[in-house]
Amino acid sequence: MSHRPVSMMPINRGLLGLIGLLVLCCPFLAVAGDQPAGDVGAGRLISRKCMACHDMTRAATIRLGPPLWNIVGRKVATRTGYPYSAELLQGQWLWSEEILDSFLSAPKAMVPGTRMVFDGLPQPEERRDLIAFLKTLR
Ligand code: HEC
Repeated sequence: MSHRPVSMMPINRGLLGLIGLLVLCCPFLAVAGDQPAGDVGAGRLISRKCMACHDMTRAATIRLGPPLWNIVGRKVATRTGYPYSAELLQGQWLWSEEILDSFLSAPKAMVPGTRMVFDGLPQPEERRDLIAFLKTLR
């Protein structure tokens, strides 16, 4: 029955390493758990559905819909020269991620008078990925 503390060292180091890793990762896991980060690449593919009507480049050209460059955080209906619906013009909100999520899930449900003829993206993951991509348009 010899006591050999030295042989315990690797185990202790391993444990310490594991604990260190958990401590380092926990804040990230907590944030990721609250609101998983969207996949920008997947969002870029989904954005093709918007491109039929929206210019999504820095050029910010008016098409059937208003340009979407720099849309996240922007006040609703503020592109000069775009003929918005009366209801969108009366809006007072900023396009936060939450409000975009709500609008894109069912545009007519949130803004019954909108001229945006788009059924919406029913899948929360699709909206999350798309919004992650929209955030890169700045
Ligand atoms: C069939 C054409 C069409 C499609 C497809 C479409 N939109 Fe739109 N969108 C519009 C029109 C038209 C408006 C202006 C609505 C109004 O004035 O009520 C608009 C308005 C918007 C606005 C408000 C912009 C502002 O300046 O306040 C956002 C945000 C938006 N669309 C996002 C999207 C996204 C993201 C997609 C893709 C998932 C998409 N739209 C798909 C036509 C479209």
